[in-house]
Amino acid sequence: SLSATALAKEKIYVGTNAEFPPFEYLEKGEITGFDIELMNEMGKVLDAEIKVQDMAFDGLLPALQMKKVDVVIAGMTATEERKKTVAFTQPYYTASQVIIVKEGDNSINSFDDLKGKRVGVMLGFTGDTVVSEIEGVKVERFNAAYAGIMALKADKVDAVVLDSEPAKNYVKQNAGLQIAEADAVQEEYAIALRKNDRELLEKIEKALAEVKANGTYDKLLEKYFN
Ligand code: ARG
Repeated sequence: SLSATALAKEKIYVGTNAEFPPFEYLEKGEITGFDIELMNEMGKVLDAEIKVQDMAFDGLLPALQMKKVDVVIAGMTATEERKKTVAFTQPYYTASQVIIVKEGDNSINSFDDLKGKRVGVMLGFTGDTVVSEIEGVKVERFNAAYAGIMALKADKVDAVVLDSEPAKNYVKQNAGLQIAEADAVQEEYAIALRKNDRELLEKIEKALAEVKANGTYDKLLEKYFN
């Protein structure tokens, strides 16, 4: 007869930071969003149970290295810097950095226009890197996108630099804000794993290719970004 262990599904421990709608956020206390649904669909392909843990964004890669989680999906940009320490799958979403300002503020039309301004970024996000490279910017670092948005509404910063989809989300939900007409900085989101975890990386790559091929991925794009 089959033993209990033979029947138990493989569990895949996934880390995210659920403060990044629509990729990951809390709804009635549950972690949901595009990334989470994508991961669950990949779990179905692999016949594995997906166990998601919410943590601070800048704690995600350390948690991966310390084997607290085995996979990170968090709207995370596959940067050259991060590639030094972790492996990324093929990209699953092309995003960009945009500038959020108060409605009617037409003084910012490029990233260069941020010079001399107080600019809110989120600690450890790629937006932090982009803005920190511009000379003469007064960078204000926040722990979560929502805190940056609140600071902008309270005029504590002049602009917030954030990924395009969460930016659109916050602008929709908060009256008096707009996305500046500036060229956006492109980047690719991918799933991160430990470099030496070849077997799981291969499985995740296959599952990602499968959900892209079988239409599931397109359905999720439709649902979250119509
Ligand atoms: N794409 C940006 C980065 O990689 C921001 C990601 C933030 N994600 C999150 N779940 N809080 O740095």
